[in-house]
Amino acid sequence: MADQLLSAVSDYASIPEGYVRPESQRPRLNEVIRGANIPTVDLGSEDEPQIIAQVADACRSFGFFQVVNHGVPLESMQKMMAVASEFFRLPPEEKAKHYSDDPAKKMRLSTSFNIKKETVRNWRDYLRLHCYPLEEFVPGWPSNPASFRDVVSTYCREVRRLGFRLLRAISLSLELEEGYMAKVLGEQEQHMAVNYYPKCPEPELTYGLQAHTDPNALTILLQDPNVAGLQVLKDGKWIAVNPQPDALVINIGDQLQALSNGRYRSVWHRAVVNSDRERMSVASFLCPSNSVVISPPEKLVGDGARPVYRTYTYDEYYKKFWTRNLDDDHCLELFES
Ligand code: OGA
Ligand code: NI
Repeated sequence: MADQLLSAVSDYASIPEGYVRPESQRPRLNEVIRGANIPTVDLGSEDEPQIIAQVADACRSFGFFQVVNHGVPLESMQKMMAVASEFFRLPPEEKAKHYSDDPAKKMRLSTSFNIKKETVRNWRDYLRLHCYPLEEFVPGWPSNPASFRDVVSTYCREVRRLGFRLLRAISLSLELEEGYMAKVLGEQEQHMAVNYYPKCPEPELTYGLQAHTDPNALTILLQDPNVAGLQVLKDGKWIAVNPQPDALVINIGDQLQALSNGRYRSVWHRAVVNSDRERMSVASFLCPSNSVVISPPEKLVGDGARPVYRTYTYDEYYKKFWTRNLDDDHCLELFES
């Protein structure tokens, strides 16, 4: 029911009990490392070998990096953010039309992560869209704000192009043929999560999105340029990924971890909230085609060795992912061979 949405209420004086994490699971915001940053790769550089080396290094050590000169025009990023925030400012009755808590729906507005499975809620509303092929899905998207379909379709096309460029760099960085990853991932789906994190009166007690890894192949995140909130886990410590207005944040998903036989890492990340400002982000996920069989190339397994993960289809993986709680153990661990 749409009255579950956080954005249905304009201001909270305190957080409802259902959002309060037990003491041992709270974000401990004062322990977060804020000065460090994750690697930035300049995709506009002429030095391709250097780009590939930087991607290799970032994927191995962090599983996260930012890209600049990435080909998605700044104007398109800004329009995407603007229309997203306009959407969440629509009157509750308008948003209610799109509400669903069924993860199988290909267009839905929802809240938290998966309210049918989880015990504690996240301080987040989100709009989830399937985006590829566009002709199939755009007619089912919201038509209010009036520019929504246009702006989001343009952004989706540009992000997809970037995704394939990154898959090429990732393939080369693993010393595979440049088209390897794009080929094994099949006719990839593209999903989008438009995340809205309202101001939260007690940010120490809850999350915008609890720690998780992304179940797909590759994620491209457009962050609110003005408000920090994304954090990644590195060597047991949470590091803030400070927004950089022209950059997009890239992270390796579980499927690239499996396909690289564990060389590249789908790392834990989370979003925290704050009491001063709402925050938005737009995550674009490249997902293997459902029937694709996930199994690393022999070259990355080594003579006679066993792959780290057993062979499975993406369909099997994705179903498993949605039956679990977000911060259980790494979903890939269930697929170890
Ligand atoms: C996600 C995600 C982080 C953020 O949607 O999977 O990790 O900063 N979002 O919103
Ligand atoms: Ni994520």
